[in-house]
Amino acid sequence: MILIRTKEAMRRWSLAQKGAGKSIGFVPTMGALHEGHASLMRASAAENDVSVVSIFVNPAQFAPHEDFDAYPRTFEDDAVLSEACGMTVIYAPEMASMYPAGYATYVTVEGLSEGLCSRTRPHFFRGVATVVAKLFNTVLPDRAYFGQKDAQQCAIITRMAADLDMGVSIVEMPIVREADGLAMSSRNKYLSAEERGPALSLSRALREAEALLLSGERRVEAIDACIRGHMAPVKIDYVEIVHAETMKPLQVIDGPVLIAVAANMGRARLIDNLKFDTARHPQAAVARP
Ligand code: PAF
Repeated sequence: MILIRTKEAMRRWSLAQKGAGKSIGFVPTMGALHEGHASLMRASAAENDVSVVSIFVNPAQFAPHEDFDAYPRTFEDDAVLSEACGMTVIYAPEMASMYPAGYATYVTVEGLSEGLCSRTRPHFFRGVATVVAKLFNTVLPDRAYFGQKDAQQCAIITRMAADLDMGVSIVEMPIVREADGLAMSSRNKYLSAEERGPALSLSRALREAEALLLSGERRVEAIDACIRGHMAPVKIDYVEIVHAETMKPLQVIDGPVLIAVAANMGRARLIDNLKFDTARHPQAAVARP
């Protein structure tokens, strides 16, 4: 596995791979890699000739009061996991080369970047779209892999890649969970032993919501009440029931639906979600009276 630190060297390497007719898979990360990232890296290694994982804690997606300084940095362990998952390159650019003095260009994906996580983190998706666009321009991937846990991020990156003709396919991979159901996240490291129990209320609430949907429930307010009831142990940021592609709130559950939740537990901000398509469950498509 090769470590690349500059955007010039990264681009040179990628152009050489393309010249040799090789497909490039890409997994953008902020490090502190866990099994969720591993699933993306394994898929990339399996589906492409060569694969790049980037590790860059992106300041543009943190507000001044957020955890940029405290964000876990575990480069040695990340390198071991990346190699074990079949990565060809770790790309870890320096801060000054990503955002040099005078940096002034940002990418905003309209519509999809409103609502859900944007309500309490209005800076967030502009920072994500910008850094991912910069990384795509340097790594030149054929396929890029993202986790469904960040469902709004996936929708935004997919839109951006299509709108800006980036020539990269975005692959969304399923949520990977701990044995107790908690969706894997680098920020789970912030949870104390006492906070772990309440944190599980997010995945439990989504499982209960899914059971209701499978039983035929299609009323948004019933699903919302079920989730909020189960999430009582945590400080809810949002419970949103939206169209899975447009992220627009739904009046009735019909078609591809994203049920997304966010909460704060101690220092950790937790997010989780469930995707449900009523077209795949037609036997349950009749609303209860
Ligand atoms: O999902 C993440 O880890 C980050 O938002 C990403 C996509 C690497 C951009 O910094």
